[in-house]
Amino acid sequence: MRSFADLPEYDDGVAVTMQMARASMTNLGVIGTGQFALSFIGGLRRGGYDGKVLLAPRNADVAGTLARKHGCMVARSAQAVLADADLILLNVRPEYAEAALANLRWERRHTILSAMAGIRIDDLRALLPGVGGIHLIMPGSYIETAPGPLPLYPPAPGLMPLLSCTGM
Ligand SMILES: NC(=O)c1ccc[n+]([C@@H]2O[C@H](COP(=O)([O-])OP(=O)(O)OC[C@H]3O[C@@H](n4cnc5c(N)ncnc54)[C@H](OP(=O)(O)O)[C@@H]3O)[C@@H](O)[C@H]2O)c1
Repeated sequence: MRSFADLPEYDDGVAVTMQMARASMTNLGVIGTGQFALSFIGGLRRGGYDGKVLLAPRNADVAGTLARKHGCMVARSAQAVLADADLILLNVRPEYAEAALANLRWERRHTILSAMAGIRIDDLRALLPGVGGIHLIMPGSYIETAPGPLPLYPPAPGLMPLLSCTGM
């Protein structure tokens, strides 16, 4: 199976090792533990990311699969995810975003990756007061099995060590 380290643009062993070490220092939290979370985390693990992944407890089936297959941990609550993670993947269906995100306490150290189709950054800013950064991603679910392009807006060089695990 191909991994991040096999990609031709990362063929320098030292650079790859450093990128992977930086990626694995990132604690990833997930709110919206559904089908897309399965693909995204599967893609990260396939590409070599072995950092801590903390899941919101909704959807016991998917959370159990991710815990078993990919060594993720299931948190007591969405707020507990925020307590232990700095990078947060938001992945509920758009119509449930407001309910899922309201009443959570956000901090400046949180960087948001939103995979929620159709929710603009300005609207997310209103839903996520006080977070440090907000980025939109829209990868296809194929990243679980093969590397591929990963649209990211706005650009974030600091996120590339992690996101490169899923893409090319
Ligand atoms: N599927 C893809 O290939 C794909 C690709 C790119 C982007 N996306 C985006 O990813 C998002 C999710 O899609 P999906 O296919 O993964 O949907 P999904 O399988 O329905 O997953 C959504 C998850 O959110 C959970 N959830 C609902 N309300 C919640 C709340 N208040 N707090 C915490 N979690 C809550 C659901 O839990 P319950 O099951 O318990 O309700 C479910 O586990 C969408 O916004 C979509 O645009 C999907």
